[in-house]
Amino acid sequence: MKDLLELYQTRASVRKFKPEPLREGDLDKILLAAQRAPTDATAQMYTLVRITDPALRGSLAHLTSNAHIATAAEFFLILADVHRLRQMVKYRGGEWGHWPRTAAHFAIGDAVLAGSALATMAEGLGYGICWIGGVLNAINPISQLCSLPEGVFPVAGLCVGVPDEAPRPRPRLRRELVVHENHYREYGPEELEAAYTDMRPITRSGDWYKVLSRYFAEGGTMEHREGPYQAYAAKAGFDPDLPEELLVKLGDKGIQAGSLGQLIEQTLAQGFRSVQFQPGLVWIEKEPEAYRGDGKPGEALAQALLQAPKERIIPQ
Ligand SMILES: Cc1cc2nc3c(=O)[nH]c(=O)nc-3n(C[C@H](O)[C@H](O)[C@H](O)COP(=O)(O)O)c2cc1C
Repeated sequence: MKDLLELYQTRASVRKFKPEPLREGDLDKILLAAQRAPTDATAQMYTLVRITDPALRGSLAHLTSNAHIATAAEFFLILADVHRLRQMVKYRGGEWGHWPRTAAHFAIGDAVLAGSALATMAEGLGYGICWIGGVLNAINPISQLCSLPEGVFPVAGLCVGVPDEAPRPRPRLRRELVVHENHYREYGPEELEAAYTDMRPITRSGDWYKVLSRYFAEGGTMEHREGPYQAYAAKAGFDPDLPEELLVKLGDKGIQAGSLGQLIEQTLAQGFRSVQFQPGLVWIEKEPEAYRGDGKPGEALAQALLQAPKERIIPQ
């Protein structure tokens, strides 16, 4: 077992794996680490799906454009999971509370802590690991392939296997940028410039900005993920304003929305001339028709849209 200090000094994500299984007993050790990780309120709002079916592995590798998913000895889908906790509460006759955003916060935290403990134990045992955020590129197909119920969503994937490469440790921002004292402080231009210089070795082009902009700037990967992620999270019950059962019905009509704002945009995109909100009701108009929905704004708008005949709804 590696010394923890040495592990963190030398570790690097591994993307090439030997076609070998974990040594006997090691799967149990890494799962033990995941289960022993701290968990908010001991609620354990996470689930790991161990993907052993080679065909399913292949599909996940393809959907996320991460070939190493198929070659690693083990691959886990790391899920934020409110479903099981809700089952536990309901099983004893409790009414589940309405706290969708807080639930997402708890569940993502628990999932990351469990995955992180698993990864560190695996690296300590000499294996290579690679987290896979690419699962967000295909959140809907993956949830279908892995039969994820409502209240559950993928946070990331995690590859674990026998390394077939030994990458050098990758750079990090200097400590003053990520560790502040007592108060958050702003960054000066020299520090930002130094950050680009420090991170240069991670790039092919020599310019970290190219990487950052490809992911995080306007039109980048994250923006492409945002719409499907919002829609998926709302359908799984994590939007405070949109009731999930109505979102599922809207999905059958080709309307995917993850926030009240998106639902308004989609309504207008369907050719409805106006969306009027009044206390307890919503009124949408597309001459010569109009539809009314009752309830809180999100619920009422969803109801109004559901009343519009299906053929009038243009799939986006
Ligand atoms: C949440 C998360 C998602 C990631 N997603 C991917 C991914 O989809 N594919 C991949 O090859 N690496 C992925 N990585 C690995 C990062 O690229 C890697 O950790 C980062 O470049 C730092 O390198 P290091 O781990 O070798 O220090 C991910 C890492 C994290 C923590």
